Amino acid sequence: MSFRIAVLISGTGSNLQALIDDLQDAPIEIVGVVSSRADARGLERADAAGLETAVFSLAEEPDRDRRDAALASWLEEREVDLVVLAGFMELLTPGFIRRFAGRIVNVHPALLPAFAGLRAIAQALEYGVKVAGVTVHFVDEGMDSGPIILQEAFELAYHRDIAGIEEQFHEVEHRLLPQAVRLIAAGRVSLDPDNPRLVRVDADG
Ligand code: GRF
Repeated sequence: MSFRIAVLISGTGSNLQALIDDLQDAPIEIVGVVSSRADARGLERADAAGLETAVFSLAEEPDRDRRDAALASWLEEREVDLVVLAGFMELLTPGFIRRFAGRIVNVHPALLPAFAGLRAIAQALEYGVKVAGVTVHFVDEGMDSGPIILQEAFELAYHRDIAGIEEQFHEVEHRLLPQAVRLIAAGRVSLDPDNPRLVRVDADG
């Protein structure tokens, strides 16, 4: 039986595309793509891949608790094992997090806990960092604060050409997020029973 994931997006969906492409040969099925915005370009990518899509926007349902409850029910109906936030630009409510406790992951373009929240790449450039990175982490009720599953660091070029630098982040995100999903699906990711912040990753199988 395949491992069932849903991908939540808000925009371009390049991380969604990376998941679609990378997971083709894995025993992992993308059973739904959910956008928080009706005009997200990522929805077109999902359609092109023949995936079921839905929009759960605050524009349609401004009550966040109700929006997230409806979203959680949609995911439960599809028996989702893992919820993957891939450029989903909103905080999920505590009620949602509880329903999917330990089964939500997010990709963030920074070495957390540095530069949590919005505009992470811009924050890093404004700060003048020389080393940056990407984090895949479990989602808890805070902002980008859940236990870290995978991180990868890299050096930033001095020139600070923003387009080139964003590309550098995306290249790493597009590898790290599918890798984390594969490891979780294979049962190789667990929380240390003595330290709930520490995620054990059995990379070699
Ligand atoms: C990614 O950099 C992600 O880490 C951040 O938002 C961006 C979304 O890009 N949270 P995309 O929609 O996957 O192309």
